[in-house]
Amino acid sequence: MCGIVGYNGKNQAAAILIDSLKRLEYRGYDSAGIAVFDTNVVEVYKEKGRIVDLEKTLPSISGTVGIGHTRWATHGRPNKVNAHPHTSGNIAVVHNGIIENYQQLKEKLSRTGYEFVSDTDTEALAHLINHYYKDNLIDAVISALKDIRGSYAIAAICGSELVAARKDSPLVIGIGEGENFIASDIPAILKYTRKIIFLDDLEVASITPDGVFFFDTCKSPIEKKINLIEWNIEAAEKSGYEHFMLKEIHEQPRALHETFAGRISELEGNISFEGSNLTESQIKDISRISIIACGTSYNAGFLGKYLFEQLAGVHVDIEIASEFRYAHSSPGSLVIVITQSGETADTLAALREAKSSGCRTLAITNVMGSTVTREVDNVIYTRSGPEIGVAATKTFISQLGVLYLLALYFGKIRGKISSDQMKRMLVAMKMLPAQITRILNNKEKILKFADTFSSSSDFFFIGRTLNYPIALEGALKLKEISYIHAEGYAAGELKHGPLALITKNTPVVAIATKGLTYDKVVNNIKEIKARDAPVLAIADEKDSEIEKYVDAVIRIPTTEDILSPVLSTVVVQLLSYYIAKARNCPIDQPRNLAKSVTVE
Ligand code: M6R
Repeated sequence: MCGIVGYNGKNQAAAILIDSLKRLEYRGYDSAGIAVFDTNVVEVYKEKGRIVDLEKTLPSISGTVGIGHTRWATHGRPNKVNAHPHTSGNIAVVHNGIIENYQQLKEKLSRTGYEFVSDTDTEALAHLINHYYKDNLIDAVISALKDIRGSYAIAAICGSELVAARKDSPLVIGIGEGENFIASDIPAILKYTRKIIFLDDLEVASITPDGVFFFDTCKSPIEKKINLIEWNIEAAEKSGYEHFMLKEIHEQPRALHETFAGRISELEGNISFEGSNLTESQIKDISRISIIACGTSYNAGFLGKYLFEQLAGVHVDIEIASEFRYAHSSPGSLVIVITQSGETADTLAALREAKSSGCRTLAITNVMGSTVTREVDNVIYTRSGPEIGVAATKTFISQLGVLYLLALYFGKIRGKISSDQMKRMLVAMKMLPAQITRILNNKEKILKFADTFSSSSDFFFIGRTLNYPIALEGALKLKEISYIHAEGYAAGELKHGPLALITKNTPVVAIATKGLTYDKVVNNIKEIKARDAPVLAIADEKDSEIEKYVDAVIRIPTTEDILSPVLSTVVVQLLSYYIAKARNCPIDQPRNLAKSVTVE
């Protein structure tokens, strides 16, 4: 995810900006840049690749105010032109987040004579600030922000003025002696100061060497509290979380928000994608879809199968990538590959195989510029931000987000869902990030169950229909990070064999949300309880019946039945995490596993 730094003070800015940017490298990025105000002009230096590559190109730069950025591409390829800072006249801007209405702003600003050189949404912001600039930067920034829809953390300079603002993207201000700092995250500036102010949404800050002044978007002054940071650098990189996996689980509301940003218009009941050139008639003509993926991405695709079949009325074959190329069946007329990294060798091999049979291809991936994006016909990005923990969590949630959008989009074009249904679904989808936050804020019961059963040697996860893929994902998460043998099963299948393994020593997690198969899942739970196994149910918060049948219940907020797998996922992730933690496992780097599997 992109990183922002800024400096205004008594020292030379360039070295501090580069040093601070390096401390944000763990967030992942594909280009970097700085802008420093030197006497009369703003000098900008940027490069594709690593910060050390940028550093090698830097001349000696003088200037005591500047901004810096590491970019993780979302709009436009990872290259030098798209790297930040972006400039307009003497104004330079760095930005994290997504400006949803940048296309409209771009058209408007182009008509008034502004020239665009990059493919980024941020460049529109730089021109917009310039457009409003009269005699001071803070007024221009405040005016520009009023025209923007979307999420942002920004830092801008013009002359010796440095201004920061945020909405839905993190930004902190560091308070020093005769110098002050901006950063996306505390570790970037912890070396220089431990006095940190957290900027809140819709707040703007003017940073001078001698003080920082905070305002709301009407320019009324705001008082802010200084926090004294006591973490060390390593803990701070994880923002205080013990593991990247836990941090990434907590980033899911934001990841899903980004997945949806600019793609949903719930009032009109519309969905749009920036990277897909599938035409309406091509979508209407799809006779069968093949979804191909590995591991967690496969589990997301498996849920996708149910979604496309229910919402768009099109049959889907879900294929394990490493098996697909040896199958003798022909792929559907549309092949969707799902890969977080975009580099998984099995998935790429399957994609090439599918392409050779002439079908259309579409990739759902998280990494811009990855191999898969260069080989498919259409790309849809999950926009989860970089994921460092080997166990996929937030990228899975975002993959589900894209699959819901795509299935609804296809369903509308194919005449399978009404405009009212569409609007209802989109409204419910927009509530998911806040509902995930509620689960994250209420995890005591999950912790308790995890502690009680962390020494078990076998676990079962069960669910029917839409919850079956989540049972598979729960079992995959648990086995990869806790080394406990776990099986995900379609609840109705237990009695056809695995029930023989059920004893008082095999905890079962039953996903029992309301819906078509609820009563049948309850029957399956009774079969399990008759064999004395402890059962944890994941159930709707309004379900008053379920606790009669199980040992513990984790409640999830009420949503549309078809969306509840998103919320159940968060429970199985946390459960796996806390069990692995209780067993003292190396959660972020499980044995034998790699984040990106580039061998077949
Ligand atoms: O990058 P991809 O999504 O293609 O990776 C696929 C699998 O290797 C990956 O999902 C793996 O199963 C994860 N470690 C699961 O947490």
